[in-house]
Amino acid sequence: MSRNPKRQPTFTTERLKVRPFRTSDVGVMHALYGDAHNVRFRSIAPTRTREESRRQLREHLGYRPNRFAVWAIERRDQRGVVGMINYHRRELRQKRVDVGWLALPTAQGQGYMTEAMRALLRHVIDDLGVHKVEAQIMKANKPSVALARRLGFRLEGGPIRDRWLIDGEWRSTMLYGLIAGEER
Ligand SMILES: CC(C)(COP(=O)(O)OP(=O)(O)OC[C@H]1O[C@@H](n2cnc3c(N)ncnc32)[C@H](O)[C@@H]1OP(=O)(O)O)[C@@H](O)C(=O)NCCC(=O)NCCS
Repeated sequence: MSRNPKRQPTFTTERLKVRPFRTSDVGVMHALYGDAHNVRFRSIAPTRTREESRRQLREHLGYRPNRFAVWAIERRDQRGVVGMINYHRRELRQKRVDVGWLALPTAQGQGYMTEAMRALLRHVIDDLGVHKVEAQIMKANKPSVALARRLGFRLEGGPIRDRWLIDGEWRSTMLYGLIAGEER
């Protein structure tokens, strides 16, 4: 049984507003997704043009809570998006989702992603009834491993070989998991 809200919720935390993306976010979307160095550990290759970023943004605008949902992270003390979070690959029967995260380099090292992800974990666990949250992370992606551990995820397995195909190259990942009640 899913307990989906009718509309995609916005989460307000101490320093952040975590809200659905809008068509006007294309500029920041391109800054986020087009930064080849920053996205080198993601499962999706960097976007090369603003048009490609616009296409990605279009996919983020629809709210399909049984499958995935994407949020833009804004600081409350200044205008502008500083990152994104999502859940995807939702398995209704197994009460399981995967999560993903990405912050602008200028917004890293300040705890914003921990704050945003805590709100998302509360939502998927308390509102959607999710029991298991998973994250696929490349071994070399140290900041993501640290973030996952800070949130309460544990290393469950890996390397999961050739998990992602990125620009024609296969990448292996480590599997991190969190069971409802383990979030910190
Ligand atoms: C993964 C990623 C989001 C982590 O960003 P981050 O800034 O390290 O994570 P947080 O926002 O939670 O900040 C934590 C850092 O802020 C520091 N910090 C400062 N003020 C803080 C506060 N008030 N609260 C918590 N942490 C704070 C922490 O000490 C920590 O720094 P440290 O790692 O040097 O100890 C970022 O590296 C990123 O976007 N990477 C590229 C995308 C990517 O690889 N995505 C994942 C694919 S699987």
